[in-house]
Amino acid sequence: MMFEEVLSPGQVKNDADSLAVWGKDWTNGFSVAPSAVVFPEDNHQVAGLVAYARREKIALVPSGGRTGLSGGAVAGHGEVVVSFDRMNKILNFNPEERLVTCQAGVITQALQEFAREQNLFYPVDFASSGSSQLGGNVATNAGGIKVIRYGLTRDWVAGLRVVTGTGQLLHCNNGLVKNATGYDMRHLFIGSEGTLGLICELDMRLTKPPAPQVVMVLGVPRVDHLLDVLNSFNHTLTLSAFEFFSDLALEKVCAHRTLARPLAEPAAYYALLEFDETAMDSAGKAFEHCINEGWVADGVLSQSQAQAASLWQLREGISESIAAHTPYKNDLSVTVSQVPEFLSEVDRFVDDSYPDFEVCWYGHIGDGNLHLNILRPEHLSVEEFMAMGHAMSPNIFSLVQTRGGSISAEHGVGLLKKDFLHYSRSEAEITLMKGLKNLFDPDQILNPGKLFA
Ligand code: MLT
Ligand code: ZN
Repeated sequence: MMFEEVLSPGQVKNDADSLAVWGKDWTNGFSVAPSAVVFPEDNHQVAGLVAYARREKIALVPSGGRTGLSGGAVAGHGEVVVSFDRMNKILNFNPEERLVTCQAGVITQALQEFAREQNLFYPVDFASSGSSQLGGNVATNAGGIKVIRYGLTRDWVAGLRVVTGTGQLLHCNNGLVKNATGYDMRHLFIGSEGTLGLICELDMRLTKPPAPQVVMVLGVPRVDHLLDVLNSFNHTLTLSAFEFFSDLALEKVCAHRTLARPLAEPAAYYALLEFDETAMDSAGKAFEHCINEGWVADGVLSQSQAQAASLWQLREGISESIAAHTPYKNDLSVTVSQVPEFLSEVDRFVDDSYPDFEVCWYGHIGDGNLHLNILRPEHLSVEEFMAMGHAMSPNIFSLVQTRGGSISAEHGVGLLKKDFLHYSRSEAEITLMKGLKNLFDPDQILNPGKLFA
């Protein structure tokens, strides 16, 4: 058995079903061919695994909840998948510090629920919270639906224990608030997609819960008015979320989940806002202003927690509702003020070049992050369509580059975007990034082939 000096036989799987399940994430179209899946149970075993893999020149692919959308956790070339499924314990809670020490395999929702039990709040949230793991969230610096108010995963990580490609276990920051002792390696590992080290444990910060939330869905006829609406509400209150979706996205999610449309008349776009119920008066005034200006055609305000949850489904269910169309997924960002012009430019390009393609827009427009999903026409195979998506990407990414934007705002680079990294990062930056990779992982055993072309 491989790894017999580190793991017990029950911690290694290599049957065909397991390889197929643990060898991939939510992406399609990449080959899946790991040689084994291993399930370490503590930091010591992870360090032993890496030391063994280094000696035997075995490539390792770290694997969390496998909800990634860029192929970062896909093992296509005989790699060994290192699953964190059995490192799923909450190890410690320090109420004075509001710090929770978690193993990397703790599910996002489990941390959210743990926080609630302490009358506290873990604010990073997204549709895949029920399956995604904290280690994976950190590896991609996951964002989601509350970034406008609470920031990204990075903002909640107070400490990390990580095994580098040399098998060393590093303790990064230890939960400190202030620590001005040189390079903060914690931030290097955040967003590194498993290429520099295997994240084993995390100290996650919690905060006070907000007041009960209310949700508003507004019909917005023109894309430039989405920004006017955002500015009006931002001016008078603190938003917890400002999301958007196009009418086609709404049509898909309503059909898939058998949901009613929120408004009597369709609009080109919809904005979904969430805010503290204590800000209701200010929200009413902002709404009236938007109606008077003609920026908003109509709106609905949740009257109960149940209604708020069902309005959220209109946004959070979109990704799943279009999955059967195997969309070519884009996860773009520009600064918020550039969003309307940028969105129109990309729309024009896709319309002119591929008039037969259906395009679903949705995303976290309040922080400048737009998900452009191009749906696969039935007559194209997944492979043909992915090749077309890849071929059209340079045109879209040139528009991103001109605006100094990002070709992957929150999903990571993985396999899907690695040919295009240079549209968002300079040659000098990529050279330095590769230098870091060589330093942390001199034998190239950690998630090889990801991030860089
Ligand atoms: C979302 O915002 O719904 C997620 O990032 C997933 C997706 O983009 O499909
Ligand atoms: Zn998203």
